[in-house]
Amino acid sequence: MKRKLTIAIDGPSGSGKSTTARMSAQKLGYTYVDTGAMYRAITLHILNNNVPMKDKSQVVKAAAEVQIQFTRTGDRLEVLLDGKNVTDKIREPHIGKAVGLVSEIPGVRAILVNLQRSLADEGGVVMEGRDIGTRVLPNADLKFFLDADIEERAHRRQSQLAEQGVELEYETVKQELIDRDTRDSERDESPLRAADDAILIDTTNLSIEDQVDLIVQRVREKEAQEVTLHE
Ligand code: DC
Repeated sequence: MKRKLTIAIDGPSGSGKSTTARMSAQKLGYTYVDTGAMYRAITLHILNNNVPMKDKSQVVKAAAEVQIQFTRTGDRLEVLLDGKNVTDKIREPHIGKAVGLVSEIPGVRAILVNLQRSLADEGGVVMEGRDIGTRVLPNADLKFFLDADIEERAHRRQSQLAEQGVELEYETVKQELIDRDTRDSERDESPLRAADDAILIDTTNLSIEDQVDLIVQRVREKEAQEVTLHE
């Protein structure tokens, strides 16, 4: 019997990890878990309910009260917050601006890390974020860390925003990415970094298809090894 594995994918914004993780999961027949969407959903809840962002204990209390679920519609991952579809809402720029403050609160992270681990319990999961290989799933069967040059990441993010109807100057997008990278990698709580045993993939000159192929191939190899080991 083929055992379904747990796959961790981490990397900074614009590294292509979300699309790569989603498409790899689809090809593998695994469940895709977007942990950034969870931090975004909690941020949306906090803003909607006027919870004072600076009062950490109130933020943690609010985070503990909400229910976050994922459903799939075709190849789209839908995010439900207390049963309400918030898939588009959580991508709005004001959420992107506030999520950094929420995601650095240890109590919020503890709640989400527990939820993320429970989602990976049975295997067959591709989980994507910033601390999956280092903190959430330190024993993941395979870990990938995707990165790309800042210029390339800024171009990708700019086109992504344009597709959503948001036109921003290249330099503005680049500076926002640099700020986000700094905040994500320098925070005390689970900073963004590659796990020691992660496979590093520089996506600067790779297409999404190349990245997916690389990951799917590695997972298939590992699955085959597992079958041999357990026979
Ligand atoms: O991947 P994203 O842009 O949707 O993530 C939103 C924010 O959540 C980002 O600022 C980093 C944070 N995040 C995190 O701290 N840990 C994760 N595992 C995933 C995201």
